[in-house]
Amino acid sequence: VEQSYIMIKPDGVQRGLVGDIISRFEKKGFLLKGLKLFQCPKDLAQEHYKDLKDKPFFPKLIDYITSGPVVCMAWEGDGVVASARKLIGATNPLQAEPGTIRGDLAVQTGRNVVHGSDSPDNGKREIGAVLHRVTALLQIFFVFVICSDQLDLETTY
Ligand code: GTP
Ligand code: MG
Repeated sequence: VEQSYIMIKPDGVQRGLVGDIISRFEKKGFLLKGLKLFQCPKDLAQEHYKDLKDKPFFPKLIDYITSGPVVCMAWEGDGVVASARKLIGATNPLQAEPGTIRGDLAVQTGRNVVHGSDSPDNGKREIGAVLHRVTALLQIFFVFVICSDQLDLETTY
């Protein structure tokens, strides 16, 4: 069955958009197969975006993705990869249509709230890479400690 790796980026978590974003995928009818709040290590962020490593914005992109906890999710369903990209909208939120996540919730390409896999093969690969990191119990504990530490609690009051 087709799966897409959907990741709510640090700005989406800190701005309190997790529920809204998950709700859109639920209402569309896709199946949530896995979810983890996770501090993305630098090397995993670099591996995840390796196709962009020669772009001038690559170091900033890695700083952004590792700046706080992300919500990693596996969503399943027929056509989920292409459909999720439509729900998410264009990379530049100013060009994303109203009604899409980026079109409704963001203004900057460098703070565009959410990631979605661009092919079924990449969906499998990206989900596998995260699963690999979060299976060991010690790592889960470590991640939990880091995540609690880095969440900006002021934004929750
Ligand atoms: P993802 O779902 O995150 O992979 O976005 P995308 O598939 O819509 O775009 P792409 O894979 O080409 O770029 C990955 C991410 O790099 C984008 O989502 C942006 O966060 C960032 N990015 C892309 N282009 C630029 C740019 O020109 N400037 C900056 N600052 N960031 C960019
Ligand atoms: Mg991409």
